[in-house]
Amino acid sequence: MQRHGAVRHRILPLLREAGGVTPDNVKRISVLTGVPEADVWGAGRFYELLSHPDAERRVCQGLSCVLAGAMELDGMKVSCLGQCDRAPVVIGRDLELQEAGPRGGITPDDPSLPMNLGGRDDASYKALAKARELGADAVIAELKTSGLQGRGGAGFPAHIKWNAVANEDDPVRYVVVNADEGEPGTFKDREVMLRRPHLLVEGLAIAAFTVRAKDIYLYVRGEFPEERRSVERAIAEAGAHVADFAWHFIDGQGAYICGEETALLESIEGKRGMPRHKPPFPTQAGLWGKPTLMNNVETLACVPDILLRGGERFKNLGRHEPGSKLYCVSGHVKRPGVYELPLGATLDEVVRAAGGYRGTPRAFSPGGASSGFLPMSFRALPLDFGHLRKAGSMLGSAGVVVLDDTVDLAEAARWQAIFFEDESCGQCAPCRLGTQLLRKGLGRYLQSGDPAHLDTMDAVAWEMEEGSICGLGMIAALPLQSARKHFPEDFERRG
Ligand SMILES: Cc1cc2nc3c(=O)[nH]c(=O)nc-3n(C[C@H](O)[C@H](O)[C@H](O)COP(=O)(O)O)c2cc1C
Ligand code: SF4
Repeated sequence: MQRHGAVRHRILPLLREAGGVTPDNVKRISVLTGVPEADVWGAGRFYELLSHPDAERRVCQGLSCVLAGAMELDGMKVSCLGQCDRAPVVIGRDLELQEAGPRGGITPDDPSLPMNLGGRDDASYKALAKARELGADAVIAELKTSGLQGRGGAGFPAHIKWNAVANEDDPVRYVVVNADEGEPGTFKDREVMLRRPHLLVEGLAIAAFTVRAKDIYLYVRGEFPEERRSVERAIAEAGAHVADFAWHFIDGQGAYICGEETALLESIEGKRGMPRHKPPFPTQAGLWGKPTLMNNVETLACVPDILLRGGERFKNLGRHEPGSKLYCVSGHVKRPGVYELPLGATLDEVVRAAGGYRGTPRAFSPGGASSGFLPMSFRALPLDFGHLRKAGSMLGSAGVVVLDDTVDLAEAARWQAIFFEDESCGQCAPCRLGTQLLRKGLGRYLQSGDPAHLDTMDAVAWEMEEGSICGLGMIAALPLQSARKHFPEDFERRG
């Protein structure tokens, strides 16, 4: 344990308040906290928002924004800003939206849906009262019946995690919500926080009650100030319903990798957001080494409905896997936005909800950058965890990006390679070097037209998959590999 462990978690918020990493700020914060200057500097420089606090305009270079012409805009180019439905997007120095299209679409009010983004938020906290009445074991049993799988990407059964933390011996345990949404193509957690913040607050309170945690941490991506305010308001409105918990907000500082659960914990602790080796898993040794339940925003927001209307009903909403699902739809569709459909809806159904295709569709990513590209022959595939895994892709966070027939898949793969290179934390060599090699190989191929530049890419991909600590390195080659597999014509010799 470090001598300054008790104050270390303050260094990132202090750097943010002070206006970022400068020699003066680092000195002052080091004196204030007792954390060595080199440590303060090293942690702070890891984060984009702390390293470039003066940027007046941050222009999103996520794929949907690039398709919408973001590269023509002035400003510092940054990784996906989580506003793909409003592309192209620019945020200002205060991290508020500066330029963006109109608000994206959502499913119209439909009270039969658990999330029902188009409906009114309910601040009655009936589900929390029911949880308190039923007790922890019954809550976990209902979650089990519902079959709810984590909506943050991996699809891990929620009840197993909740049960694991509830059964730990340590009297100190934490609940953390992962609201660091940064996967290019994904912006659903944003809509939950904006439109149904009480669903999230209630889900968190039920989780904390169930695993007997007092402290609840909300790690919200820094570029979502409006979303944070919305959740803060909801907690204030909830008042006495949730007053037995301590609510702590942590601002993300602009590092995609902090969405990975153990990197997120490191970040709360005031360190560089570098993923930990697992095991131990956070359920056993998470925040400050204590048992920690971490869930995605959407996962937690499903819980009130499961308790009020029953797990069985929730389960039956899905086609092949349980529940409804928020699909984020962007790219070449008529009305980009967040649409709630049965889990396992097809691409055609999801795009129909989003107003239909724009132009002639050629390819799509079903689950953000990490899911690679699929051709339209997969348009009738159920978009759920199992079917997409079998198809060599993944549902991830359901960031569906549609590409029309004007898009060069080698160019699209290059944008994803740029993203992964920028966002690799650099901890392990296969990922640090592999992401560079992928981006360079694609760049050289596109410049010269010579496919020989791609010859070593399979070996690079293998090294990355086998030798990376976390999911980022394991899947970073998928956009290139899937594009080459399904669209070989885009990777032939060019004149
Ligand atoms: C590179 C990387 C980025 C991730 N980003 C997010 C994220 O932004 N939000 C999220 O909830 N989960 C993200 N995850 C998944 C988390 O590690 C974790 O599985 C999830 O928060 C658990 O919540 P769930 O069980 O409710 O899905 C990411 C994983 C990886 C490997
Ligand atoms: S795989 Fe990449 S992002 Fe993950 S820990 Fe290793 S270097 Fe960091």
